[in-house]
Amino acid sequence: MKNTINEIRQKFLQFFQKKGHTILPSSSLIPKNDSTLLFTNAGMNQFKDFFLDPKKKKYSRVVTSQRCLRTGGKHNDLENVGYTERHHTFFEMLGNFSFNDYFKKEAIIYAWELLTSKKWFNINKNKLWISVYKDDEETYKIWLNIIKLSPDHIIKIGDKNNCKYNSENFWQMGETGPCGPCTEIFYNYDIKKNNNFSQFLENKNENFIEIWNIVFIEYNRISSTKIIPLKYKSIDTGMGLERIASVLQNVNSNYKIDIFKKLIKQISCFSKITNLNNISLKIISDHIRSCIFLIYENISPSNEHRGYILRRIIRRMLIHAYKIGIKKNFFYKIVPNLIEHITEDFNFLKGTEQTIKEILQIEETQFSETLEKGLRILNIEIQKAPNQEISGKTIFYLYDTFGFPSDLALDICREKKIKVDLNSYYLEKEKQKKQSKIGNKFYNNGNNIININDTCNFEGYKKNTIKSLIKYIYIETKLVSLISEGEKGIIFLDKTCFYPESGGQIGDIGELYFKKSRFIVENTKKYGNTIGHIGKVITGAFEVNNFLYAKIDKLYRNQIQINHSATHLLHSALRKVLGDIVTQKGSSITNTRLRFDFSYPNIINLSKLQKVENIINAEIYKNHLIKIQYCSLEEAKKQKAMALFENKYDSIVRVVSIKNFSIELCGGTHTNRTGNIGLFKIIAQSSVSSGIKRIEALTQSKALQFLHNQENEIENISKILKTKSISFKDKINKLILQIKYLEDQIHIFQTKENQYQIKKIISNIENIKGVKLLINVFNNYNYNSLKLIIDQLKKDFQNIIIIFINKNNNYFNIITGITKNLTNYLTALEIIKIFIKHTNGKGGGKNEIAESISSNVINLSKILKIIKSWIHLKLNNIKDKIHE
Ligand code: ALA
Repeated sequence: MKNTINEIRQKFLQFFQKKGHTILPSSSLIPKNDSTLLFTNAGMNQFKDFFLDPKKKKYSRVVTSQRCLRTGGKHNDLENVGYTERHHTFFEMLGNFSFNDYFKKEAIIYAWELLTSKKWFNINKNKLWISVYKDDEETYKIWLNIIKLSPDHIIKIGDKNNCKYNSENFWQMGETGPCGPCTEIFYNYDIKKNNNFSQFLENKNENFIEIWNIVFIEYNRISSTKIIPLKYKSIDTGMGLERIASVLQNVNSNYKIDIFKKLIKQISCFSKITNLNNISLKIISDHIRSCIFLIYENISPSNEHRGYILRRIIRRMLIHAYKIGIKKNFFYKIVPNLIEHITEDFNFLKGTEQTIKEILQIEETQFSETLEKGLRILNIEIQKAPNQEISGKTIFYLYDTFGFPSDLALDICREKKIKVDLNSYYLEKEKQKKQSKIGNKFYNNGNNIININDTCNFEGYKKNTIKSLIKYIYIETKLVSLISEGEKGIIFLDKTCFYPESGGQIGDIGELYFKKSRFIVENTKKYGNTIGHIGKVITGAFEVNNFLYAKIDKLYRNQIQINHSATHLLHSALRKVLGDIVTQKGSSITNTRLRFDFSYPNIINLSKLQKVENIINAEIYKNHLIKIQYCSLEEAKKQKAMALFENKYDSIVRVVSIKNFSIELCGGTHTNRTGNIGLFKIIAQSSVSSGIKRIEALTQSKALQFLHNQENEIENISKILKTKSISFKDKINKLILQIKYLEDQIHIFQTKENQYQIKKIISNIENIKGVKLLINVFNNYNYNSLKLIIDQLKKDFQNIIIIFINKNNNYFNIITGITKNLTNYLTALEIIKIFIKHTNGKGGGKNEIAESISSNVINLSKILKIIKSWIHLKLNNIKDKIHE
């Protein structure tokens, strides 16, 4: 095929290289150093600093093909995917960038040359249409006078709702960040219908597609109401690779280009669908690509943040698989082929296939349970729906409680012609939204309320005490200049040796003092780029702009350091025993214990955990030196340093290495030698969420203490069992046999007792019109035995109504049984209902057997009389003889 995706990508990069641009690699899907973005959503993201800060600019002209994901925030295409021919969650964006170099004229000339020149993309000029921002006269004139485009191919686009810069032709990266007016280039598939461009802009003409956006970055949006001009002007362009491929391959749909055609065909083989235009096929083919790239970035499905987006994409894909008849083991069957196919273009993905498969499979198994549970409940609700309508609350409940997707529930209702009261659905959803907002507010701690635009030097890697200057004091959230004896507050210094809670390591404790004044630091936290010492003045007072001494609690810090180094050993040992699928998902390191969360799908058996412990303790005995070194991120990657690649790192990173056994990027504090850890013991393993395991462990004297506690427990058990621990197993087995024997004996005695009771009570049987009625009151009789007696009597008499009352200490059980042949005339449930009515009891059952319980049977004989006359009445009405 001509113009494959690969060839187009290459041509684009080469064209701009010829025009003096440096080809740079795509950055990760996880934006670095940018908390305003969940995922990379445009080629310009990685250059945000170049646009904003002239000092940070490293190049003047750059070209890239950037992996992007648009599933949230300002640019979200998730809901469009599959329903249009052009939208994707994951896609590649081709882009050329100029930083304070060329501007509007050259950018437009370059774009036009690449698109129309015979040597390059060779697109017919008459098929291209342009939009420009209405106030951007300069750009309009470039298209008109330099490119010589006919004016009816250029359209000016203004602001929406009279709101400045709220326009399709004013591009903004996010809620804040670089922005500016843009000009967009469109391709018209249907050359005969030229005049419908304005219709397209009103979403009425599908023949036009936007292929390239050229943004003139001139401003920085710093809040929703404020935009400021930048120091210099830049160019940012973006062309969707899949879109331009659909033009150059002349297929009028992204889903028909080379890579998607193959994917869709493969998926369809596992479904009931033969029409390759099916929406679900498109959605699956799009989503599987996103999943693969997200898992490659070490994201695993979870209920928050990026993991939540991945989970949503996987689930959406599974719902569509379900819709087209791929019901079980979807990933197991399909994924290996798809991965192989996708990785052809992206070599770096090779080696991640197994992890991708495992994570997707776990998610599938878990979600199928959700689907099954939800479907069962939904079907019950549908069956009992009055007037073929169910409440929207039910649909919301299914979603809220089981995660059952509402759109699937609505689809099913539509298919079964069941109406849904959508009003109540939205009301319920709103209610829940409000509640979770309230929850969030309480969750926020002071870190978000106190906002200090300053820094604090952390010098605590080497020093335990330093002299510092007091810069700010807060009491609660109020900035003050003095804090006095007895008052609680937060003190901010110009430098400190207190480590603030971060990277899983808890904050330091200690004291701030000067002369006779003392402030006890109970915790240390980060507040933006500065560090807060949280605590209370014990004696004296502290004032802003005065000096003090900051001194950490050395013992406390030592214990934390030991646990932090042990966590690194644990991370490496887990990877050695369980494989590279183990990646860190979180940690919590305190002075008393450590906790480590990581991706791993299966339960880890005891022998593997013991292997991990053995490896770690062996490294402890070797008493390695723990080395800290600073180097470039690239160098660290070369050394294969482990890192939370979801995190942001500076270009110079801190690497903590324990020989070759463990090399990690880490800002935390560590002990000098592994020998200081003394002993390492895992005390618990649990599952935090699907595919994420947690290990808790102890070190040094705490580990020893844990072993001593175990030993004491064993000693206690040994006393109770009156045997040594070595014989526990035999002794317990013996006891189990004994219990079994005693249960059998009880059963034999109970059966005999039941027979005896039956003989005794059958003399009470009355005869009413050929039907037998047996009423008997027991005292504290074994309840299950009563049911067995009823079964026995039903077999023996075949034409009988039995009512047993079992008096217990504070309540009565009533249980009734009726042979099947009588249930056309009266039922056990009817009798029980009369009891419930007269005793304020609770209960239920079926036609042949029903039961109730009540603590209020004051006049039992009166109730029994009522029941009896009701039975007489029922049986008197029977004209025919009852068939036995
Ligand atoms: N950053 C621009 C876009 O994403 C080019 O459309």
